[in-house]
Amino acid sequence: MNKGIFITIEGGEGAGKSTLIELLSNKMHQRGKSVMTTREPGGILIAEQIRSVILDRQHIAMDARTEALLYAAARRQHLVEKVLPALEQGQIVICDRFVDSSLAYQGHARGLGMEEVWAINQFAIQELMPDLTIYMDVSPEVGLTRIAQASEREINRLDLEKHSFHEKVREGYQLLLKQYPDRIVLVNAEKSADLVFNDVLAAIEERFAGFFATDVKL
Ligand code: TMP
Repeated sequence: MNKGIFITIEGGEGAGKSTLIELLSNKMHQRGKSVMTTREPGGILIAEQIRSVILDRQHIAMDARTEALLYAAARRQHLVEKVLPALEQGQIVICDRFVDSSLAYQGHARGLGMEEVWAINQFAIQELMPDLTIYMDVSPEVGLTRIAQASEREINRLDLEKHSFHEKVREGYQLLLKQYPDRIVLVNAEKSADLVFNDVLAAIEERFAGFFATDVKL
């Protein structure tokens, strides 16, 4: 039984996940919470290496199922090596992407089917699902423009996909919102970082009011 809280942050390219995660973790640290931030694919050596293989722009020959399996493999290793131990210690884990990314990108946008992709991910994650997922909704126009303007952000193999692919990713997330209305909260990520942050704090307070009330309030 996990004592911690598992929060995942989802969204298309250029949604502002990294900025939000930094703001969130700073705020929680200030309030005396024990927080661990991490990302998928990656977060630990094996998964970071799988990430390099998946996102390498030279790997245009990568088959869609291979891609889905690699994401699931990276997820499995990251979960057992990093996420589960932190949750067992009672930490708040904030993870940049999780299984919803595979469902939206590989299941829906690549056309593998959400159910098929869910099946391989069930094998990878067993029963573990996030307590709360923040979906940062941004149109591909806005998201991809942000990426193009961020000089420090390296363009990876998935960024190079056609506009229609990114539209499909967004559509995939809309389907997930309908499927998991209690777990996933939509936030309009086209607003400024401060406003997005406020919306996310409100969503967390609403979801975990009892938990935070026992400590210093967020
Ligand atoms: P990032 O840019 O948010 O770090 O994510 C890397 C890319 O990997 C991004 O284009 C989304 C994609 N991705 C998937 O397609 N499926 C997955 O399961 C995950 C975790 C990421």
